[in-house]
Amino acid sequence: MIDLRKQDHLGVTSSSENGDIHNNDAFLFLGNCPAHRYEAIITDPPYEIGIAGKDWDCKKLRIDVLAYQFHRVLKPGGNVFVFCSDFQFGDWYCELSRYFPKLRKFAWCKPDSVGFNKGMFQESFELGLHACSEDSFFDDQKYYKNHMVTGKTSGKERLMPDPDEEWSEKKGEKALHPTQKPLKVVEELVTALSKKGDTIFDPFAGTGTLGVAAKKLGRKFEMVEYGFRNHIAAWDRIRGEE
Ligand SMILES: C[S@@+](CC[C@H](N)C(=O)[O-])C[C@H]1O[C@@H](n2cnc3c(N)ncnc32)[C@H](O)[C@@H]1O
Repeated sequence: MIDLRKQDHLGVTSSSENGDIHNNDAFLFLGNCPAHRYEAIITDPPYEIGIAGKDWDCKKLRIDVLAYQFHRVLKPGGNVFVFCSDFQFGDWYCELSRYFPKLRKFAWCKPDSVGFNKGMFQESFELGLHACSEDSFFDDQKYYKNHMVTGKTSGKERLMPDPDEEWSEKKGEKALHPTQKPLKVVEELVTALSKKGDTIFDPFAGTGTLGVAAKKLGRKFEMVEYGFRNHIAAWDRIRGEE
């Protein structure tokens, strides 16, 4: 029997009145997406950390193609926000600055980071980048700093492991998705960068944190995720909010 959870980009779409998740490849989806469709793009693409000698997350991301497509599918006056790894930051900055005149770095600070890297400062924040135009929307109800302090994704919002996965029993509390972002941080981005009723796009949905935040805050979402297991987890999570 085929285990559907292990299949990638099957092309199915899960739809609701708040938005859709497409089980597809982000580049294929973007290639077929009409221009000027979204008010905002808030996304967390793969970090390519494996390129530095590991055998996971090591596929080269075409940041040049993504920057071009993000600008194309965004409505005029829209906002783009990307989380990124340290060595991607320069590429994202360079490629997005071809299309957007205003760029600002952002840090998600994790005071509960653990681990010891001999001879180095301990890693305790992740980078993001906001790109927009002179006339882009920015919420003026609050004063926003370009950093936010929250712990690592934890507690109720952290997805439990899939009980059918062999490693899940051994590792107990390990989250289903290793790079799930905290809802509080994503909610802050959604509030600052979009209005109620806007549609926000996330082509690398993971477990759908953007969709959960968008729905909670009265925005619509369109998301793409090519791992079928993540797609299902994201969908269950969004429906669980109902
Ligand atoms: C960093 S994770 C996103 C995590 C998400 N922010 C969350 O809170 O759960 C990136 C996701 O992109 C997916 N992905 C990687 N390459 C993709 C592609 N070409 N098309 C669609 N999804 C892709 C991975 O399966 C992974 O779930």
